[in-house]
Amino acid sequence: MIKAIRGTRDLLPPETALWNFVESAVRDVFRVYNFHEIRTPIFEDTQLFARSVGEETDIVSKEMYTWEDGVRAADYAVYKKWMKMKMPDARVFDLIDPEIAQPQSPAPSARMKIDGKQNVILFRYRFTFQDFLLLKLMEEQSRDETGGKFQLRLVTTEAVPENFKIVLEEREVIIETVTVENRPQSLTLRPENTAGVVRAYIEHQLWERGLNKLYYIGPQFRRERPQKGRYRQFYQIGAEIIGPATAGSESPARDAELLELLATLLDRLCITDWALQLNSIGCPNDRAKYNEALREALAPVVGQMDADCQRRAVTNPLRVFDCKVPEDQPIIEKLPRISQFLDEPCRKHFEQVQEILKSVGVEFQLNDRLVRGLDYYTRTAFEFTHGALGAQNAILGGGRYDGLSESLGGPSAPGIGFAIGEDRLVMALKESAETVQRKPDVYIAPLGPGMNREAARLARELRRDDVITELGDESFRLKKSLETASKIGARFALIVGENEVKSGAFALKNLGSGEQVSVPHAELVQKIKSSR
Ligand code: HAM
Repeated sequence: MIKAIRGTRDLLPPETALWNFVESAVRDVFRVYNFHEIRTPIFEDTQLFARSVGEETDIVSKEMYTWEDGVRAADYAVYKKWMKMKMPDARVFDLIDPEIAQPQSPAPSARMKIDGKQNVILFRYRFTFQDFLLLKLMEEQSRDETGGKFQLRLVTTEAVPENFKIVLEEREVIIETVTVENRPQSLTLRPENTAGVVRAYIEHQLWERGLNKLYYIGPQFRRERPQKGRYRQFYQIGAEIIGPATAGSESPARDAELLELLATLLDRLCITDWALQLNSIGCPNDRAKYNEALREALAPVVGQMDADCQRRAVTNPLRVFDCKVPEDQPIIEKLPRISQFLDEPCRKHFEQVQEILKSVGVEFQLNDRLVRGLDYYTRTAFEFTHGALGAQNAILGGGRYDGLSESLGGPSAPGIGFAIGEDRLVMALKESAETVQRKPDVYIAPLGPGMNREAARLARELRRDDVITELGDESFRLKKSLETASKIGARFALIVGENEVKSGAFALKNLGSGEQVSVPHAELVQKIKSSR
């Protein structure tokens, strides 16, 4: 028997009702704080995570799902380069999906015939006065393990309709055979979503809108040891505020706004037993000095520590604070703290965050051991823990990442964000799935041959009027129908037999009280809804 992979799980009804309840409450909160949804792909270039989350972190060094991709996305870089060489002034204004451009692709809109030969359209280019298409001749391509030879052809067209269903009056400009190297791409299932959001910010030049307040809800993947509250596919609800400093993205007001949003959100879900742990892990300058001090303090004692902590002490001393080994704790307790190393602007920023939090009544605990497990953080870092969750008690985490955009090749774009572990959030809810899942209002019991048709008609009417309706089958005896209706928790059973259809009034049985009344067709919706 094939089972779900270890560390993944099926979310089944009625529990899914709880997930929907959480997500809809969260969307409501995001809406009033003026956040908008972003959906990025669940896999990205491996380099994105290596450069943002950091090579030395647990996530990148041992928890990512990474593979070499067979689709040669790299081909496109070669085609583009060729085009740039031939026509330096051309501007790409459309890239055809690499999948569509595969020879076996069924998508006819990306193909065209020239001289009776099939061509695949790779790019559309625009000059000031004319459009061009870059084509690949399908019949003449050859490919082996190391690469392939393709004939590329550039054609011009007067007007290319948007949907690529083209009748071309073309003129070939250049035909040339090029060699494309086979360079498979390393791809990774996203272990978190901040990197993807910042990538999208850069790719789509989102700074042109000023301050961006974006949120996401979706699966993330980490190859961790599964246990309660820790999965290999888990879900995050996250938000990021990112933009140029001139749009206010660097202000401590943003940090406080985000933390206040989180307190509101947890309140809204009636989750009370949480604690906000707050720290500032400094600006890059402070961090360099701090790392130096940590290395110095660790040097005489590192030999006594657990092997994993020793490795951290060398590669990324800040990570030592994440060591969980009990015997190492006395050593860690004595290490210098980042709070002693914050420079003046950084300290001020952190103080202002705290002042605003106090003024809006969000309680927090300063925790200068809190360092977070991702490398992109600067200044404010935080986690919310929850009492009822056991060992995996971090319900959410986040912080500032002021240099992340630059490190991914983008412009300066200070940012701050968080991600809630949705699996853990659902575990912390007091609400039960039964209370949030709505039960069917009515079960329609067709009685006898030909009644499925009548029942279907009635069901359609009721459902259009927002009555939750379940349909039986004309082959069921009345007893079986009533039993089924009770089993699924329907409030009413509606009996549809020949007599009822003829008279235009239906027997409606209240399954709680057992009372049965005859209700005229026109009054059914009102009668069923009135007793909700
Ligand atoms: P993170 O602390 O790695 O931060 O993850 C955030 C939350 O995701 C954790 O507090 C936890 O609730 C949940 N989580 C993490 N791993 C697992 C797992 N294996 N199973 C279940 N839940 C898990 C980030 O991911 C950052 N991107 C947050 C952020 C956004 N920082 C700035 N913007």
